[in-house]
Amino acid sequence: MLGGVTAAATRGSGDEASIDVAFTPADGIKERQDSDRPTSVALVVDVLRASSTIVAALAVGFERVLCVGDVEGARRLKGPGRVLAGERKCRPIEGFDYGNSPGEFQSAPVAELVLCTTNGTPAVLAAADAADEVLVASLINFDAVVRAVPDGTDVTIVCSGTNQRFALEDAYAAGRLVQRLGRRRTDAAVAAAQLAGSYVDSYAPLAQSADAGVLEATGQSADIDFCARESVFDVVPRVAGIRDGIAVVEKSHFGPSPDERHTAGDGVRQHPRAELIT
Ligand code: MLT
Repeated sequence: MLGGVTAAATRGSGDEASIDVAFTPADGIKERQDSDRPTSVALVVDVLRASSTIVAALAVGFERVLCVGDVEGARRLKGPGRVLAGERKCRPIEGFDYGNSPGEFQSAPVAELVLCTTNGTPAVLAAADAADEVLVASLINFDAVVRAVPDGTDVTIVCSGTNQRFALEDAYAAGRLVQRLGRRRTDAAVAAAQLAGSYVDSYAPLAQSADAGVLEATGQSADIDFCARESVFDVVPRVAGIRDGIAVVEKSHFGPSPDERHTAGDGVRQHPRAELIT
């Protein structure tokens, strides 16, 4: 359903823009498909760790991240100019070049990173199916995402969750986004904001989560610290296109610099790179 949005283009005049939270992809996206008011902008959140990994990969110089839903699909994409990353049960996948630790990415040896994770990359694909515009949000790029969301658009924050269940760290980040983005809140958005408001810093909700427990048990607790940092990357990943079940995610070029506020009239530029997949 990707098509890009311009502010207010998808809302009736006089409507106040809304903000909603899907605590799992199935939750909110189904609701939106049934609605006659399509989602304008979806923000996909998988704080631990896929959305953080996508941000980190683009920040170190990968030109794009190809999000795929299954391991075999990822393997088929391996080739010149591409490396593979991903996880199953939070552990690196055999034969892949990287796991799903955002801190692993210190440089980009090639242009494209193929990423396959259990919940995060399927959430990106699901959101791209339902929304006009899909951005990838995490705590590490929090301020950049807030700046990039066009004024006046309906927003759905899509939490990747964990195995179709609520994930505390995603709900926390969603609540923080709700607090910052304004708009008319659905009940889910109210609940997320209340949850976020009950924490004094971003480390605790991550550390308390079940996903953090798995990372600790697998010797990857450094990733919790990495992902709990706020606004350390000025990078907004954006789904540029979908092709054959692959979401092409690139660094958004519409994102303003910190001192350059986004205005409603800017809209979101089309950046069709899906044809680059072969
Ligand atoms: C996922 O997509 O399920 C997560 O990112 C899992 C992980 O932390 O590796």
